[in-house]
Amino acid sequence: MVNIPNVKDAEPIPEKALADISRLMNNGDLFRYNSEGSPAEKLEVEFARTMGTRYALAVSSCSAALFLALKSLDLPNGARVLMPAFTFAAVPSSVVHANFIPVLCECGDDYRIDLNDFSEKIKKADAVLISHMRGHTSDMDVIISECKQAKIPLIEDAAHSLGTTWHGNKIGTLGDAGCFSFQSYKMLNAGEGGIFVTDNAELFAKAVIMSGAYEHNWMKHQGEHASFKKWQNKLPLYNMRINNLSAAIIRAQLPELNKRIEKGRHNHDFTAERLNRSPWICVPEKLRPETRAPDSIQFNLIDMNSGEIDLFEKITSLSGLNIQIFGRTKNNARAFWNWKFLPETFELPKTRKMLMTACDVRLPPKLSQDECRNISDVILSAIMTIKKGVAA
Ligand SMILES: Cc1ncc(COP(=O)(O)O)c(C=O)c1O
Repeated sequence: MVNIPNVKDAEPIPEKALADISRLMNNGDLFRYNSEGSPAEKLEVEFARTMGTRYALAVSSCSAALFLALKSLDLPNGARVLMPAFTFAAVPSSVVHANFIPVLCECGDDYRIDLNDFSEKIKKADAVLISHMRGHTSDMDVIISECKQAKIPLIEDAAHSLGTTWHGNKIGTLGDAGCFSFQSYKMLNAGEGGIFVTDNAELFAKAVIMSGAYEHNWMKHQGEHASFKKWQNKLPLYNMRINNLSAAIIRAQLPELNKRIEKGRHNHDFTAERLNRSPWICVPEKLRPETRAPDSIQFNLIDMNSGEIDLFEKITSLSGLNIQIFGRTKNNARAFWNWKFLPETFELPKTRKMLMTACDVRLPPKLSQDECRNISDVILSAIMTIKKGVAA
């Protein structure tokens, strides 16, 4: 049996985090506003510099960042937020949490937004939230241009896109605000955490205050004093702050980001090339302006009936590789029909069809080429077994 790594493993946390962590353990200074120049403050300056944005606000999760970004837009309750149907349940949840209505848009076999459905549905939308699910970038040229034409704001959920670029510009910086995740299965891992970036001083001031910068704690943030003063005491405090320990853990990983991006892309492209040799597998091509930063791979099973797909799941699992087929695992949080909390329901046959054959395997950057080869061998050999009709 080939050696299959535990693909749920994260990258190790660099040892240099230890100095900051032990200092925080000694002085118990975990609250971001307790002292000047906290790890949370430093992380925000460093992350904004990395992304080339004016401002960054570190918070407790990407979901919190999305919620704050949406709340900062000044939309009325019940506003309609257009978003792709292929995403994680936390994304429409952030829209519901903000008292808005998620409007789901079809996604195609390449996991990206169906632009015909988008163009139709944007006519009645008040904002657009693009979730670049699993780091697949939809056609941002069309999306940005249609948002501008409709004069509605655009938020990016870049939870899986840290390091991805579109025409050389960083994903997460293309709209009014971008949100990233520091949950364990992401490029930078603090267990939990997130960050919001923007160039817009007003949006930023509102998000900072609502994140829990009570009284004059906004002074410990980047941003414009006039904007903070304007919103002081006018907004609720949702208390979604990051703590210093998480910030210190992320700061130590920032210098490794480029290496992780390169390695993640190499692992993905190496595995994709091997999988695409099979006529029963399709790893969709990236779009031309996109340079990806993947830490997972998605592929579609082609011309396989339900029994064959069951067998595929069984054989790969027996070989030590658990493959998630989004639409087939019970209660999957990425299958839109399981989001029973939505105020409106949607018939989305294209997305449903894609989810029924789209497979998901994590490929963390730390995997070696041999480990990626073993993963692809398990997949290819399962398919060969099934298609030869000699399944064990
Ligand atoms: C596409 C996507 N967006 C947003 C989130 C939310 O991230 P967080 O867990 O940091 O709230 C997730 C979670 O994995 C996700 O998959």
